[in-house]
Amino acid sequence: VSNVTCFKDSPNYSQPPADPAIHQGALRGLPLPGSAVRIPPGSPGCSQGRQPGLERGRGSAQRDFNSDEFLDDPEFREIVGKAERAIEEGVFPERIYQGSSGSYFVKDLQGRIVGVFKPKNEEPYGQLNPKWTKWLQKLCCPCCFGRDCLVLNQGYLSEAGAGLVDQKLELNIVPKTKVVYLASETFNYSAIDRVKSRGKKLALEKVPKVGQRFHRIGLPPKVGSFQLFVEGYKDADFWLRRFEAEPLPENTNRQLQMQFERLVVLDYIIRNTDRGNDNWLIKYDCPTDAGASRDADWVMVKEPIIKLAAIDNGLAFPLKHPDSWRAYPFYWAWLPQANVSFSQEIKDLVLPKLSDPKFVKDLEEDLYELFKRDPGFDRGQFHRQGAVMRGQILNLSQALKYRKTPLELIQMPPVLVETVRNTQRSNSESYTQSFQSRRPFFTWW
Ligand SMILES: Nc1ncnc2c1ncn2[C@@H]1O[C@H](COP(=O)(O)OP(=O)(O)OP(=O)(O)O)[C@@H](O)[C@H]1O
Ligand SMILES: [Mg+2]
Repeated sequence: VSNVTCFKDSPNYSQPPADPAIHQGALRGLPLPGSAVRIPPGSPGCSQGRQPGLERGRGSAQRDFNSDEFLDDPEFREIVGKAERAIEEGVFPERIYQGSSGSYFVKDLQGRIVGVFKPKNEEPYGQLNPKWTKWLQKLCCPCCFGRDCLVLNQGYLSEAGAGLVDQKLELNIVPKTKVVYLASETFNYSAIDRVKSRGKKLALEKVPKVGQRFHRIGLPPKVGSFQLFVEGYKDADFWLRRFEAEPLPENTNRQLQMQFERLVVLDYIIRNTDRGNDNWLIKYDCPTDAGASRDADWVMVKEPIIKLAAIDNGLAFPLKHPDSWRAYPFYWAWLPQANVSFSQEIKDLVLPKLSDPKFVKDLEEDLYELFKRDPGFDRGQFHRQGAVMRGQILNLSQALKYRKTPLELIQMPPVLVETVRNTQRSNSESYTQSFQSRRPFFTWW
């Protein structure tokens, strides 16, 4: 790494600054979105450990975990409630077999899929990952497996974090995703958990008085990400091939481009390391397919015709810019859409937010509130994730400002923006910026 301004891990970031004063000297002259991110007590860098929510939850029913959580979002709460009722009535979540980890289609009482649940302990590095071949691979060849730039076993937070970034930026491409607790017989449990659960049930049947003393009778709820299921979407690959063969009308093509730009913004900010064209979906209500072309007026008001959904966001928010970038490119960079300059619309939607230090600070704090709940949360790691994200925001802002193309964006040298406590004025912070010394991405094109 060749430093523009030398940076190092701040030894003091565990101590909250008492004064909001902000020092931006290290980046003077550079337009730095997020430069005024102050770290107040009880926010990123100031946590003394676990958030009580997870601890409190242990031993009580999953409904208790979930109902507190989504008071602000009745729609989400209702869907999670439906899933819980379905499980109680024996309509269990069903494992998605194609995935490399334990992911489940969660259903309602009628058996309709309402969500995708990914439990933390069934992630690729989770203890109970059901795909044992992956586990073996990891055991035998640890250095060749996985992404060393990511926080292990926090994919569910990455999923929820992507949802949060999407909502804050009003991109509206990530189906709503939150952290939820669920228990189901169809999840992968250890033999011990199953035996315990059976024993407790038996005790309740035989000696109800004793059984009532157990906090939880069934299997222990698992924490994981719950993403709302979106209907009528297909893998982007499918539609992109079709659009190649049968080009879209200009207006619809423009809609696709605008949605695509939102995907670029999301992926770039969260530095998604897993955006293959199978990890985003497109819904296309082709007017002719629907037989609607007979009634031209009706087609005119049918909006939107094309919509994008960014799913599978569990491998984002890296601790550093990936070294072996060839393994983790943004696959959309190969699409013709990546050669089109960012539109004025996306610039107007996103740039004012990213240029507002308060917005970036709020975003970081919201992510902190989410991430700190994991029992393995580590402040130092969170700071490193933040440095990458701020660097990405810096580059993206430049790219939007000058209306570059997505391809030009990813060719910009990756930047880290570190928060460093100012030792002279102990109550202030400054930012230092460093560039990766290696060649920018995709120079070989
Ligand atoms: N929110 C959603 N709405 C509709 N379909 C979805 C949603 N999430 C996932 N799917 C479907 O389920 C499939 C698997 O989902 P996803 O890629 O998130 O799981 P995964 O276990 O991480 O799989 P992999 O490891 O193969 O990427 C997707 O290809 C998609 O078809
Ligand atoms: Mg996938």
